[in-house]
Amino acid sequence: VALGDLGSVDPVSTVFGLDRGTAVDRVPIERFLARHAADVRGNVLEVADSLYTRRFGGAAVSRADVLHAPPGGRDATVVGDLGGRLPVDDGTYDCVILTQTLQFVFDVGHAVAEVHRILRPGGVLLLTVPGISQISRVDMDRWGDFWRFTTRSTERLLAEAFGGDVRVEAHGNVLLATAFLQGLAAEELPSWAFDREDRDYELVVCARAVRAA
Ligand SMILES: C[S@@+](CC[C@H](N)C(=O)[O-])C[C@H]1O[C@@H](n2cnc3c(N)ncnc32)[C@H](O)[C@@H]1O
Repeated sequence: VALGDLGSVDPVSTVFGLDRGTAVDRVPIERFLARHAADVRGNVLEVADSLYTRRFGGAAVSRADVLHAPPGGRDATVVGDLGGRLPVDDGTYDCVILTQTLQFVFDVGHAVAEVHRILRPGGVLLLTVPGISQISRVDMDRWGDFWRFTTRSTERLLAEAFGGDVRVEAHGNVLLATAFLQGLAAEELPSWAFDREDRDYELVVCARAVRAA
């Protein structure tokens, strides 16, 4: 094995490759959301911005809310802590898009129960969480970067709040995991790298959970 450019203790990029292009994990995350675009409708809550709500929901979205942890952010319409009680009524949302956020909440069981509470019966959680990832330094220093997930832990976590209507899948392989840890951009990889799933390299764990009607 010739390690070449990767034979260094320093990564190619320290910021998930965002300084080089698209972060590698965004490809499986966005493919997952695209497959479930029909769920993005009605009242939708997303974290940090409404990018995916707009892209995947389009005209089917009647209200696009944006959640930010305190003290809030530029686009926030809801400021609250998923580790506490969100300032949102029970049964408000048809869809919650919770991408790459749960790892920043220590009490993940509480956070999932809180998302379940604010979904209306029949409402859908579209969740993605990191499996294999470097630390997100900005988030670590702000609120804490606490967890990495597997399909098994995500299944158990969601089943506790949602019961039976939970589907969990993982995406990744050793090439994607290596590239992501090094901070290479998706554009630097061949397209076939994204088409092979190796169940022992869970780069991203994705889940769809429905609140019982
Ligand atoms: C990297 S963004 C994730 C969402 C983004 N849409 C994405 O797909 O990457 C991290 C977000 O987590 C939110 N966050 C961190 N801790 C939180 C908490 N305890 N409760 C609610 N949101 C939290 C922050 O407001 C921040 O906007």
